[in-house]
Amino acid sequence: MKKIFIYYSNTGNGDTVAEYLKDKADIRKVIPKKDLPKSFFFKIMTGGFYTIIDYKSKLVNFDSNIDEYDEVIIGSPIWNARLSSPINTVLDKIDLSNKKVTFIFWSGSGTSSEATKKVQSLFKNVKIIDLQEPSKNPKELDKIKKEL
Ligand SMILES: Cc1cc2nc3c(=O)[nH]c(=O)nc-3n(C[C@H](O)[C@H](O)[C@H](O)COP(=O)(O)O)c2cc1C
Repeated sequence: MKKIFIYYSNTGNGDTVAEYLKDKADIRKVIPKKDLPKSFFFKIMTGGFYTIIDYKSKLVNFDSNIDEYDEVIIGSPIWNARLSSPINTVLDKIDLSNKKVTFIFWSGSGTSSEATKKVQSLFKNVKIIDLQEPSKNPKELDKIKKEL
C-alpha cells in the first residue's frame, strides 16, 4: 500500500506529524499563497472568518495528482472546530474516490467536532485521528502508530 500524507501547517504542529510519518508515507505540504497573519489576534480573526465562509485558500503549485497512491492521509490544524482553509482547497481539488482515506487533525483541545462531521459526511468509513498540539506533546504521535 503506497501512502501519501498531504497537510497544511501554520505554526509547525503539522510539520511534527510529517516528520513522524516520513518513513511511512510520501509527504506533500500545501502552502497557501497568502498565509494567516503573524499576530495572534489577527490570526484568530482571519482564520475564524475563513471557517465561517468555508474559504478555500489559493495554493502555491499544488500537485493534485495522487494516482500512484492507495492510501491518502490528510492532515489539518483545527480552526474554529473546523478544517483549515488550505485543506478545504485540497478536498476540492483531489479525487479521493477508490482511495483509503484517513484524516489526522491537531488542535489546542484535541477535539475536532465540525471537521469530523464534515469528513464523515464526505467519506464512508473514514478514519480520524485527533491529536492535541503534537509539537508540545510528542506522546500524542503514539495515537498514529495505533491507528495506521
Ligand atoms: C484560526 C484558528 C482557530 C483555531 N481554532 C481552534 C479550535 O476551535 N479548537 C482548538 O482546540 N484549537 C484551535 N486552534 C489551535 C490550533 O488548532 C492548534 O494550535 C494547532 O496545533 C495548530 O497547528 P499548526 O501548528 O500545524 O498550524 C485554532 C488556531 C487558529 C489559528
